[in-house]
Amino acid sequence: MTERGKEVQRMKKELPIMDEKQAKSDKDYSIYFQPPSLKDAKKRGKEDISVHYESAIPDDMKAIGVGKRYFIRTYGCQMNEHDTEVMKGMLEDMGFESTEDKLEADMILLNTCAIRENAEDKVFGELGHLKTLKQEKPGLILGVCGCMSQEESVVNRIMKKHAFVDIIFGTHNIHRLPMLLKEAYYSKEMVVEVWSKEGDIIENLPKKREGMKAWVNIMYGCDKFCTYCIVPYTRGKERSRRPQDVLAEIRDLARQGFKEITLLGQNVNAYGKDFTDLAYSFGDLMDDVRKIDIPRIRFTTSHPRDFDDRLIDVLAKRGNLVEHIHLPVQSGSTEVLKRMSRKYSREHYLELVDKIRQAIPDAMLTTDIIVGFPGETEEQFQETLSLVRQVRYDSAYTFSYSPRDGTPAASMDDNVPEDVKKDRLKRLNDLMTQIGREQNELLRGQTVEVLVEGESKTNPDVLSGRTRTNKLVLFQGSKELSGQFVHVTITEPQTWVLKGQLVTAQPAKVV
Ligand code: 5AD
Ligand code: SF4
Repeated sequence: MTERGKEVQRMKKELPIMDEKQAKSDKDYSIYFQPPSLKDAKKRGKEDISVHYESAIPDDMKAIGVGKRYFIRTYGCQMNEHDTEVMKGMLEDMGFESTEDKLEADMILLNTCAIRENAEDKVFGELGHLKTLKQEKPGLILGVCGCMSQEESVVNRIMKKHAFVDIIFGTHNIHRLPMLLKEAYYSKEMVVEVWSKEGDIIENLPKKREGMKAWVNIMYGCDKFCTYCIVPYTRGKERSRRPQDVLAEIRDLARQGFKEITLLGQNVNAYGKDFTDLAYSFGDLMDDVRKIDIPRIRFTTSHPRDFDDRLIDVLAKRGNLVEHIHLPVQSGSTEVLKRMSRKYSREHYLELVDKIRQAIPDAMLTTDIIVGFPGETEEQFQETLSLVRQVRYDSAYTFSYSPRDGTPAASMDDNVPEDVKKDRLKRLNDLMTQIGREQNELLRGQTVEVLVEGESKTNPDVLSGRTRTNKLVLFQGSKELSGQFVHVTITEPQTWVLKGQLVTAQPAKVV
């Protein structure tokens, strides 16, 4: 690893469990962290990234977990879910076994999310519960990792008010878990390792994947700096994995029999832009992935600004590239988009939607929308509603704006009152429910290809699965069909699920 641009901090853990009063009198930990700085972050260069292929688990750590159990709670996005798979892979390579029961665990990790304030509140709530457990079981190792660990204010708060935590590590330090654990086991130090700037790319980390679907990271970080968003600070600068590494991982997953792959990145459309020695875009990658024998390929998340014609042409070739595109719009008002620094207008977004629909007429679109951004007027919110009506998304993740420390929007006047934000969110959700229901109604009587995931959670006589467009389908059938593709005729479309009838008991042949 290059040492440039990284900071490693270690705290002496003065008491095994420090209470709030004791901690308050303690030193100011803020000197160990740099707050997210827009100015510094924007000075990012391309030259620092290097790729590492060496093994993550040193020989003397390969049995450290034998006879011990771990429990990981994951908050937030698919990127975090996938990071958890990596940590599980490393822990199991060290001999740990997983448990779903916190009381039984010798190690508990909270893989946290910082995107909105309520995500952080959940983690602090959980830490409160874990304090009792730690008091009853002092040998328990308790770790906090993920996006919240990249925030100075959060690390300070944990060290002051939740000093029973043993390890805090950031999103760029995941591969260092074995070494951090070793320190936590063999010394009395509280181990805090947060590299405040971007990390390198670490290949060959073990991953524990379950089921028939797999996530594959194609890039890390984000350079878009939307003014409301903490991600460019918590995840660092954009860095793409080399195409040969991504393709080798997908080929290997195909050999193992995985049925569906989701390519992951905060802004997948920027894939390859950081290569200095290679002209290879996200469209090129998708064109190569298309040729691998995996039945379904998805990707998330797209940024409309970088979504180019080359990608649309490749997606229009279909095959294993499914006709579902998640295309976050955030707002329907050009004025608000400008203040969000999204770098596209309402018109540009709608043109892109038109282009996609011309090339792939049955493409299903989903989106992310924020209501109540600083300065959003009722009129501007109405523009969001009208855009939603025009695009007719099949579904949307909708959020009320939540200021994040260190982002440019946090210093704008958060002047939309809470009750107005709530009311706008409700009106948007009501509209989305209505449109989603109407979109599902279009599928009545149609026969769709379904990847069977298993018994439905609420009724073991019913199977559940997903269409190529990721819609949930429920139907009766034998559970031996799990993991297979079948055809189902939709007989009862509802708002959130499609109920249907199995066409044949034979698995469907997939293109
Ligand atoms: N407040 C509300 N929503 C946010 N998102 C990101 N940052 C914020 C914030 N500060 C939403 C965006 C993004 C999704 C993952 O989370 O819609 O696309
Ligand atoms: Fe955040 Fe996405 Fe914007 Fe990047 S592109 S700053 S992850 S909202």
